[in-house]
Amino acid sequence: MVIHDQSEQVLLQLNQQAWDRRTQIHIKSRFYDVDGFLAGKCQLNPLELQLIGSVRGKSMLHLQCHFGLDSLNWCRRGAWVTGVDFSPVAIEQAQHLAKQSRLAGHFICADVLSFANETQPEFDWVYTSYGVLCWLADIDRWAHTVASALKPGGKLCLIEFHPALDLLQGYGYFNRAKPDIEVETTYTENAGSEKQRVAVWCHSIGEVQSALLKQGMQIEHFQEYDYSPYDCFDNLVERQPGQFVWERDGHSTPLLYSLVASKK
Ligand SMILES: C[S@@+](CC[C@H](N)C(=O)[O-])C[C@H]1O[C@@H](n2cnc3c(N)ncnc32)[C@H](O)[C@@H]1O
Repeated sequence: MVIHDQSEQVLLQLNQQAWDRRTQIHIKSRFYDVDGFLAGKCQLNPLELQLIGSVRGKSMLHLQCHFGLDSLNWCRRGAWVTGVDFSPVAIEQAQHLAKQSRLAGHFICADVLSFANETQPEFDWVYTSYGVLCWLADIDRWAHTVASALKPGGKLCLIEFHPALDLLQGYGYFNRAKPDIEVETTYTENAGSEKQRVAVWCHSIGEVQSALLKQGMQIEHFQEYDYSPYDCFDNLVERQPGQFVWERDGHSTPLLYSLVASKK
């Protein structure tokens, strides 16, 4: 069992309560389109489909799986997926959605920073994406969880919003122990004016890569993109279906990066 220090525990609870509430909002949103999923639509993006390829018969750990929509989309493509999230409301919804869709997703309620103690090196893939790292106080512990869960030869696929965007929006770039405390609405179209109080941390790209290298992981792929597949920030314009861009004086903005790393 991991004992968090008191302030870490308080911040974890703050974020968990926010995500419990956000899950209730998100599940009813057009953004997540649960009805579309139940009707058979695939909600994974070309980027992750191309980076990961066929998952038939593969085991996958989906970290910060939210209410399991992406996890269950991977199940539908033949993967054995375990989703982990610290929000009990999200995990309950994920289990419900698995039953509704008759897919064999397995869901665990846990803090990813402590999950190394609960996992074995049993997964072919660890997948985590789109708005995950800013919720984590300690990227070294995250990387430890990733490395602990992968089989030798197993791979991490991380797709994350680009920290340069945070910088342009007034956040920092380099990590510091003290988080930013924000009071903000969530990103789905049905968010209304209800705000949640959250704690967020910056993680530079160098910090993420170094944390994985320290765990003995080998970085096989890294790429930056000038689009987001989601219309989830201010000022975005849809350049082509599924690619939202933010142009400033004719310059495009880095919005996303992808990284694949393997465990030796
Ligand atoms: C932006 S969402 C996940 C994005 C995902 N691609 C999606 O849209 O379904 C971030 C998720 O991280 C989870 N989360 C935040 N901090 C966490 C932690 N310390 N341990 C586990 N889950 C965490 C939240 O509950 C939330 O479900």
